[in-house]
Amino acid sequence: MTGNELRKSFVDFFKSKEHKHFESASLIPDDKSLLLTVAGMVPFKPFFLGEKEAPFKRITTYQKCIRTNDLENVGKTPRHHTFFEMLGNFSFGDYFKKEAIEWSWEYITKVLKLDKERLWVSVFETDDEAYKIWNEEIGVPAERMVRLGEDDNWWAAGPVGSCGPCSEIYYDTQNMGKNNEEINCKPGDEGDRFLEIWNLVFTEWNRLEDGTLVPLPEKNIDTGAGIERIASVIQNKKSNFETDLFMPIIKGIEKVLDIKKEEHDEAVKVIADHIRASVFLIGDGVLPSNEGRGYILRKIIRRAFGVGSVAKEKVFEKEDIFLHKLVSYVVETMKDGYPDLVEKSEYIEKVIKIEEERFSTTLKNGTEMLSEEIAKLKKQNKKKLSSEISFKLYDTFGFPFELTKLILNNEGIEVSEEDFEKRLEEQITRSQRSRVTISDMIKDDFIDEFFEKHGKTEFTGYENFADKGKILYAAKSEGMSGYEMIFDKTPFYAESGGQVSDTGKITAGEFEGRVVDVVKKRDVFIHQVEVIKGIIPAENTTVELEIDVERRKDIQRNHTATHILHKVLREKLGTHVEQSGSLVESDRLRFDFSHYEPISKEMIEEIEYEVNNVILSNIKTKIDYENIQEAKNRGAMALFSDKYGDIVRVVEIPGFSIELCGGAHVKSTGEIGFFNIESETGISSGVRRIIATTGHKSLEYVNGIEEKLAEISATMKSDENNIVEVLKKYKNEFKDLEKAYMQLQSRLLKYEINEIFEGVEEISGVKVLAKTFENKNIDELKEIVDRGKEKLQSGIIILGSNNEKAIFVAGVTKDLISKIKAGDIVKVAAQTADGNGGGRPDFAQAGGKNGSAVKEAVEKSKEYIVSQLS
Ligand code: ALA
Repeated sequence: MTGNELRKSFVDFFKSKEHKHFESASLIPDDKSLLLTVAGMVPFKPFFLGEKEAPFKRITTYQKCIRTNDLENVGKTPRHHTFFEMLGNFSFGDYFKKEAIEWSWEYITKVLKLDKERLWVSVFETDDEAYKIWNEEIGVPAERMVRLGEDDNWWAAGPVGSCGPCSEIYYDTQNMGKNNEEINCKPGDEGDRFLEIWNLVFTEWNRLEDGTLVPLPEKNIDTGAGIERIASVIQNKKSNFETDLFMPIIKGIEKVLDIKKEEHDEAVKVIADHIRASVFLIGDGVLPSNEGRGYILRKIIRRAFGVGSVAKEKVFEKEDIFLHKLVSYVVETMKDGYPDLVEKSEYIEKVIKIEEERFSTTLKNGTEMLSEEIAKLKKQNKKKLSSEISFKLYDTFGFPFELTKLILNNEGIEVSEEDFEKRLEEQITRSQRSRVTISDMIKDDFIDEFFEKHGKTEFTGYENFADKGKILYAAKSEGMSGYEMIFDKTPFYAESGGQVSDTGKITAGEFEGRVVDVVKKRDVFIHQVEVIKGIIPAENTTVELEIDVERRKDIQRNHTATHILHKVLREKLGTHVEQSGSLVESDRLRFDFSHYEPISKEMIEEIEYEVNNVILSNIKTKIDYENIQEAKNRGAMALFSDKYGDIVRVVEIPGFSIELCGGAHVKSTGEIGFFNIESETGISSGVRRIIATTGHKSLEYVNGIEEKLAEISATMKSDENNIVEVLKKYKNEFKDLEKAYMQLQSRLLKYEINEIFEGVEEISGVKVLAKTFENKNIDELKEIVDRGKEKLQSGIIILGSNNEKAIFVAGVTKDLISKIKAGDIVKVAAQTADGNGGGRPDFAQAGGKNGSAVKEAVEKSKEYIVSQLS
């Protein structure tokens, strides 16, 4: 069975078990807590957690995945990959262990026909239920079963979220290690003898931040079988890279680089793996960059490039770039499962080519630096390059260490691999600790100097909405229009603590500027200013600074409302609720907090009621500076992640809430007006998000609803009080009409059929109907074929219709399928219209992109029929 056939057979098998097939989701997950799609279950996380209702209880997929945790091992082993495909079947509150186990067994023993004697099974150490099903119902003998602990048989997509015990199926490759040392080993032991081919996860738990397990609303099934591994088993190959999922790509690498896999096994494997990953990442919209997914992509492209360079023992230059030439091999190999790659192919090639060219320039600069270092060493009669330099080459120029080693080797100079690795590790730890960007670092130098000279900016904006300030610094902004300005004091709030910065106006004589943003560094407030008229005044000029007052007041409403909401959530849902992020703007507030399940509609209403209650009580807010310990003793809420000085600003709604906060607030809660929750959603496992409005925006929201309601009522010619009843009535009537319409359509078709079948021809004694239509849908075509087959008793039908795209349906009566197959007929048509398709010998359907080619396509099919019958 080929890899392509395997994909299809898996999906078909689970379709026969009433699963809905979902297309592979993007490698960029919706789930913001994950960088990449790492398993087949990722697109379904909200269904597992009960955050969203699954549209189908049973789903099956083949899912493209990327994992980078084992990147360094790729190429060194027969099975490590970054990109891989996972075959999976999922149940959301439907079937559970018994069916999952039975069907996996049925698939591998009946469909794939693997030798039962070579299959082993593991279960979680305490999972007696799964053990019994395997042992007693399936009949796997106890000597081929093992119970394993959490490390092997517990599966979770991350530290928090859905998880559960799992059961794995292993294939005994009987590929004993040296001296048969693996003869007595079992799955879970060291060694490569047992190959895990399928993981069945019984997902029934949600792990919270503090490690506790709470049951999920429903019991679910998540399974995953790596297609590359299964292919290696059924194709009888020792390595995944020898299967037909890789061989055409490897042949491509051998040809393009003019090397042999036997001589450069590791390099060829790295390139084959990395080019697959790159093609799919770019296909899903990732571009090489210095952060996140873009960084991963850049890293693997560069690594593959470097490895190719080492294999050819030459530092590749612009004219040596080769990776982009491999794109077509990947597309050709994978297009059956991922047809979208075909049209993206040219674009992907371009992106890789540009990145290769860039990298080759970097390598050139690196080589020059290395040559200088070599010359220096030679002059000094030294024979060893310091790891400082080898690391710099890697870090600054992206020079693979192997390349440095290769060049040095030719010059008879050594370099320590150990020291290099040590520096690499140090750097990884460092970069995990801080995530500053380069531009930030440059700025900080400036700010440090500025601070030494002028001290911090005095912020007067808690009390004043307008003030005078002296210009201490003004310069054109880098890479942006406008100026950066710093004053000795300012009423403009700089973005912090989730509260956005103020906007407003600066004036001085003829000059007017607009403040569009304010950032704060070491308590120095930097204003981003667009010039409206006049020229920027000189340093030391005193200017008028005035914030947008109404906007600020709306921001204050939302900020105080955020404090009230925080407290109400802890009261209503429990003290596990911790703020994990917030955004306070003029239009709305956004509050993220830890909580493990969606909040019911009733609870949302209760929360709204309580928040509004505090607002209606019109409590005067109290703001003080006090000693942090005293504030905490009084129960002040603080964010774990924030650092506070000894003296802190405390925002209190007396008798209700008390929080450490540097933000701007209303004078009394009544100012907030009406608080309304617009939405409550999950943003990652264990984290919920509320979006709410206050004051003017809430009013706008209510007015909007009223307007919509009035419009609906007017359209339905009903009054607002009865509108729901009227709509229900219309809906029922519509249903009846729809039914009557369908019946009529079906009756009409009967008459139409007689007409259609006047076009039947006899070809070599066989009745053939080839016909095209405009705007018939696939169901109508199918029905014509079905009825036509009945009518003709013996015959062949090919129909096409143009509704923007081309669709085709073919039917062959059973007595003729030994001569000609519907699948082949339809394929000829589809290919003519830029598509593909197939199906059963007696019935098949297909589509094509080119709607205008329908007539020609059906003609081609007819020619094919003629050729087969004669
Ligand atoms: N989600 C499970 C895995 O990736 C099936 O192993």
